[in-house]
Amino acid sequence: MSYLAKPSFKGSFDKYIFKRHGSKFINELRNNVSTSLQIKNLDEMHLEIELDKVNDFRLKAFKSINNITGWKKKILELISPEIHEILGLDLAIQRNLNLSIQMPGDKNSVLEKHLDLRSGDSPFQRVVWIPITNAFESNSIFMLDEESNYKPINLNYGEFLLFDPNTQHGNIENKTNKTRISINVRVKNWFSPDLSNFAPDRQFGVYYEDLCFSESTIRAFEILENEKN
Ligand SMILES: [Fe+2]
Repeated sequence: MSYLAKPSFKGSFDKYIFKRHGSKFINELRNNVSTSLQIKNLDEMHLEIELDKVNDFRLKAFKSINNITGWKKKILELISPEIHEILGLDLAIQRNLNLSIQMPGDKNSVLEKHLDLRSGDSPFQRVVWIPITNAFESNSIFMLDEESNYKPINLNYGEFLLFDPNTQHGNIENKTNKTRISINVRVKNWFSPDLSNFAPDRQFGVYYEDLCFSESTIRAFEILENEKN
């Protein structure tokens, strides 16, 4: 895989975000959601369902995508090799894929500008953000650029982001006439500090699990195991 486009913003911010074409896994995610919700055109779902039913649909799709066989490995393929340059070879991943639905005019889906750290997330992680509809203008994710402009990141279906949640981000009310559905999941270095004293619900085993290890780490674990016997 190669970069589809240079990162959207200049300066040091470049290091923390990249956007590129995904793989057939993004197709698989979209087809899975479309089938589970029985909605063909996902970006038009607001024409078929009422706003107060959106959470039921979200939960249904959430369960369905988390049953995709081997999704963690597929995420790793999507973000490799860059993720290793950013976070190293020993990685942990969030146990579940998350799913957001942002229908036009839904004020409840607005997430104010924030840093994930403030809600208990580790600052050592990166977020994989995969829209399965086109994401543009007010229906997309917003981020602060280096001039402190809070701007949307426009992505065509098939593109995804790997971003640093230590950069302010969020969304605003969707004023477009299209629904946006996106999937996100967090990845961190397996050896990054355990901060679960501050956020018990973010513990390893509860919130994260193993994703991949370097040969050297696997060897070290084997040595430790043999020492026990
Ligand atoms: Fe966030």
